[in-house]
Amino acid sequence: MTALPGFFDIVPYAEQEQWRSAYLWQYVEGIARHVARLYGCEEIRTPLLEREEVFARNVGEGSDIVAKEMYTFIDRGDRRLALRPEGTAAVMRAFIEHHFGQRGSLHKLFYISPMFRYERSQAGRYRQHHQFGVEAIGSPSPLQDAEIIDMLWSFFRLLDLSNLTLHLNCLGGDADRTSYREALVNYLTRYRTDLSADSQRRLDANPLRILDSKEKSDQEILEGAPELGDFLGTAESHHFEEVQTLLRSIGIPYNINQRLVRGLDYYNGTVFEITSSALGSQNSIGGGGRYDGMLKKMGGPDLPAFGFGTGLERVLQVIVAQGVTPPRPPGPLLYLIPLGEEALKRCFAILHSLREKGIPVQMDLGGRKLNKAMQQANSLKAYYTAVIGDDEIARGSVSLKHMSSGSLQQSSFEEIEGILQKAADHTLGVCSHE
Ligand code: HAM
Repeated sequence: MTALPGFFDIVPYAEQEQWRSAYLWQYVEGIARHVARLYGCEEIRTPLLEREEVFARNVGEGSDIVAKEMYTFIDRGDRRLALRPEGTAAVMRAFIEHHFGQRGSLHKLFYISPMFRYERSQAGRYRQHHQFGVEAIGSPSPLQDAEIIDMLWSFFRLLDLSNLTLHLNCLGGDADRTSYREALVNYLTRYRTDLSADSQRRLDANPLRILDSKEKSDQEILEGAPELGDFLGTAESHHFEEVQTLLRSIGIPYNINQRLVRGLDYYNGTVFEITSSALGSQNSIGGGGRYDGMLKKMGGPDLPAFGFGTGLERVLQVIVAQGVTPPRPPGPLLYLIPLGEEALKRCFAILHSLREKGIPVQMDLGGRKLNKAMQQANSLKAYYTAVIGDDEIARGSVSLKHMSSGSLQQSSFEEIEGILQKAADHTLGVCSHE
């Protein structure tokens, strides 16, 4: 049996697809938590399952996510449920349910969670993916937009990602978008039959999404289409200018991309996406924007909000493609190989007391032959190994083998701890962000 299409395991050994290595996930998640602390975000964990309406009403009935991609089912209590396809609506539901608004008007929340979308599976597009997401609630200021964009940019910088492009756009307010939509539909209707089948469907349901189309025929038609930027009100234009000034002031380069509309319906004002040239067609490694009306529409306080979500699978694939993977964390400081019953019991007690001191150690529990046990110590990347038999117990001392040099060091049982503590200092600093 295998995992479902579009689903995958994160495993200790993943030579073929290195991005699925558990230690790389821990590394990236460690940096995400570090960045969250730097930018003052509190963690929130919402359930995998929600009422379907949480997403259907708030992500948008016309969005692909809701129209085609949600995993929905009816549970034994006749409730219509959905596996969480994205984090924002779920976090807003929790925000309202727990009256966070009463604790003050500024909140920055982050999550690292799996999301589920029934998409056509292909490289970089999965039916279960994981997002590091942030939702900053309460500030209408362009500073908030710039801070959250800077936060995602810093996350990628700390991971050493290069060749990234930040795409920025402003979707304006409701009125701006309504008049733009009208102008766009008027223009595109003239070319209706030349548009791709998908775009023809979208012309009625969600015309702005046509701007996103990758089809060549659509792109040619879009060359002459009206531009969203020409429909923005003064306040919206000013806000967007401010965001750009702030990004320039901290040295973050960006491209204005008037075609960037994002696939979820809740956005207004600034939207952004970051792409990587190390990936194929699914090259968006993160995106987000402002969604000021959402909380109120869901029955909560009238607070503005800005956030992002970044797909960790794609981030890990970029890390591997660019060769900026960190080393594997160190193995046990000591691997004990007991020979005989008496030694087995003695080793078990030594193991326990070293672990109580916080020292990572292992022993051969399988009663294997010496060379097999040594092979195991090697593959675990043990720092020292020690073979303990009747002689060693009688003498009260062991010979510690330093695995990378092969050198031997005599040590009494009592001295082992001190030697291992010193070795620990050598192997520290590997995962300094954790
Ligand atoms: P999104 O653009 O749908 O936004 O997803 C965010 C990121 O998740 C994408 O940029 C991509 O890296 C990753 N992603 C999405 N779908 C898949 C997939 N099927 N397989 C692999 N990776 C994927 C949101 O979900 C918004 N909730 C972001 C947000 C938060 N906006 C405001 N706050």
